[in-house]
Amino acid sequence: MGNKIKLGVIGDPIDHSLSPLIHSQFGEELGINLEYMPYHVVDSELDNFIKNFFANGGFGLNVTLPHKLNCIRSADILSSEVELLGAANTLSKNSNNQIIASSTDGLGLIRDCSEKKIEITNKRVLILGAGGASQSIIPAIARMNPKMLMVDNRSIQKTEKLLEKFSSFELQPLQRNNEPIDLLINATSAALSGPFDWNIQQQLNEGTVFYDLNYGIASAKFFSWASQFSRKRFDGTGMLVAQAAFSFESWFDTFPNINNINLSSADD
Ligand code: ATR
Repeated sequence: MGNKIKLGVIGDPIDHSLSPLIHSQFGEELGINLEYMPYHVVDSELDNFIKNFFANGGFGLNVTLPHKLNCIRSADILSSEVELLGAANTLSKNSNNQIIASSTDGLGLIRDCSEKKIEITNKRVLILGAGGASQSIIPAIARMNPKMLMVDNRSIQKTEKLLEKFSSFELQPLQRNNEPIDLLINATSAALSGPFDWNIQQQLNEGTVFYDLNYGIASAKFFSWASQFSRKRFDGTGMLVAQAAFSFESWFDTFPNINNINLSSADD
């Protein structure tokens, strides 16, 4: 047995991250001897941690909340997607020991939609929320050429900022009319604080696909609201696994099998 390849995920908090479980299964499947650890890192230690990790033999890191924005300060090279978003979820090292920041969330969502036969091209798509989660998927969805890509958010100021930031992607505010929404993506954390509700019911019907970026138990309230309109409901588990697979691919140049991942042992 040689040395294990050192990978990990950094966040604050980090206890509930499913990334270690996912990546260890990718490694087993492909026979790669890796060690993937969760690291609790606070903001004031972020830059030091990242630089020390890579200086001491670390091979790759995933980055989760609240570090997706600030981690790019520690990188030497930003992918074009990271330049666009101002946020990253994957760090790797090149042969010159430079740290490269990339973002796989958008790719993960698109891949999961394709696995689930959720159509985006030529469809009317509405994203709820204007925070980091929402922003990370907007360019990737826009590149699929939806008929219309709209965003709606509780606070209008944040919607306006987003419309400006992504004006080249033809992002629009919610158009209130009789045209049904084909795909509704929940990128808010609203269901964490109470029952989920959004004043859009006249544009939802049994053809609408509901997709939550949250997953597991955190999707219960969104699903229960969505169930009055449609049976086509998906949580963010598939996207979680797919974005992990794209990170894995950025480290090992191999896209792992995403269909046999078992997340049940982390279900607490
Ligand atoms: P993330 O990085 O997960 O996107 P965030 O940046 O804190 O987290 O964004 C959370 C999103 O959920 C925001 O769009 C927020 O709306 P505001 O911009 O108005 O704050 C939205 N959100 C959170 N709680 C909400 C609630 N109870 N009702 C509606 N939207 C809510």
